[in-house]
Amino acid sequence: MPSKKLGLLIGAEEEDWPSALEAMYRRHDPVATVNGEPLHVQVERVRVHPFNLRADTSYDAVVDRLGHWQLNPREWLKKAALYNGVYLLNNPFTFQSMEKHSAYVAMMRLGLHVPKTWLIPLKTYPERPGYQETASRYYDWFDLPGLVGHEFAYPLYMKPFDGGGWRGVSRIDNEWELMRAYDASGQTMMHLQAALEGFDVFVRALGIGPQIRPMHYDPSQPLHMRYVIDQDFLSPEKQQEIIRITKVINAFFRWEINSCEAILKDGLMQPIDYANACPDMHLFSLNVNFPWTIKSLLAWTSFCLATDRQMRLDMNTHDYFAIADDTERSYDEKLIAYEALADAYFETARFEEFRAQQLGWLDEAMWEFVQTPEFDAILQGIVRAKFPPHEHEQFFAHYRGIMRYWVEQNAKG
Ligand SMILES: Nc1ncnc2c1ncn2[C@@H]1O[C@H](COP(=O)(O)OP(=O)(O)O)[C@@H](O)[C@H]1O
Ligand SMILES: [Mg+2]
Repeated sequence: MPSKKLGLLIGAEEEDWPSALEAMYRRHDPVATVNGEPLHVQVERVRVHPFNLRADTSYDAVVDRLGHWQLNPREWLKKAALYNGVYLLNNPFTFQSMEKHSAYVAMMRLGLHVPKTWLIPLKTYPERPGYQETASRYYDWFDLPGLVGHEFAYPLYMKPFDGGGWRGVSRIDNEWELMRAYDASGQTMMHLQAALEGFDVFVRALGIGPQIRPMHYDPSQPLHMRYVIDQDFLSPEKQQEIIRITKVINAFFRWEINSCEAILKDGLMQPIDYANACPDMHLFSLNVNFPWTIKSLLAWTSFCLATDRQMRLDMNTHDYFAIADDTERSYDEKLIAYEALADAYFETARFEEFRAQQLGWLDEAMWEFVQTPEFDAILQGIVRAKFPPHEHEQFFAHYRGIMRYWVEQNAKG
């Protein structure tokens, strides 16, 4: 098998996961053996230039962290997928067309317990000639406090319909805060959503291909403390449920690196935010989950490259809706049936076999890498980028301690 090229399209983020992934590929070359031939994977940062729409590309797959926010890289990615058959993680087409709002609607249709959510019109008109006249043809005046009084109880959340990075998210406790938040929303279209408070557990599940890791999350903590270092924070049933939900969302929308935030309250696993084109993958915040992330990225990208997996440019929405619309099935039965569709999409069984047969070295290699000076340099880099100089020594020790804990937990025998 000829060598394959994996591109990384990186945005404004730290150098930890890209450097760690590059190092892991470098440290284990060839990464696998395919039909008796070594598979070499070259990892390279993608740079965007003027391009001919019919141009060739040397990339076989690209991990994209930029296309959701930046137009030029996004259009290069679309060309690479459509014209060159490059495998993309994530899918720029569905992320562009189906933002948080469509994700809510579609998963409501599948019967997931998404809290009650309304969309409200823009507060401020764009200043374009003719806009107001056109808007008057389809917008009616509406009574926002009246709507909220009728449909919701305080507190509630107001947040942008397309979401991302907690931008413009407000928790609203009364009518005065409601009007203040709506005034401040300006030209950003907003959702209103019932607040889930006094909950049992907040979980954030990171999905990379069919690999899902539910993590205990505490949004009230500062950024570097939000991922709580504990296991067994969910019952086995609820753990399986959030794994299924995340896998189904990702397969449904063709999102291959995505996270799902869900709140377990009153026995219901209620997803609140699950259209994240650039989910958090940083050592700074993920702490003890970071090695899992790097291993999962390597496993899924090398599987896609080794098997010449084709990116799916179409969707099978109606296969899911057919299950959703079957009134004979319970919520749990539907979830199991959706998961079967998701596993077919991800080729989960084939992937697991590949990982077991070809990547048997991966756990130990990660365990060793985490203990190298190269990894320590990555750790220091993230501390320097995130904390003021007088806190560096303290946080070097903090993250080294976390990684030492991970090394002890994952030691063989
Ligand atoms: N319905 C809700 N109930 C409780 N907390 C919520 C709700 N919606 C949002 N939040 C809180 O606000 C944060 C940001 O909202 P989220 O929908 O995740 O926006 P973003 O897409 O910007 O991450 C969440 O992580 C959570 O802490
Ligand atoms: Mg969120």
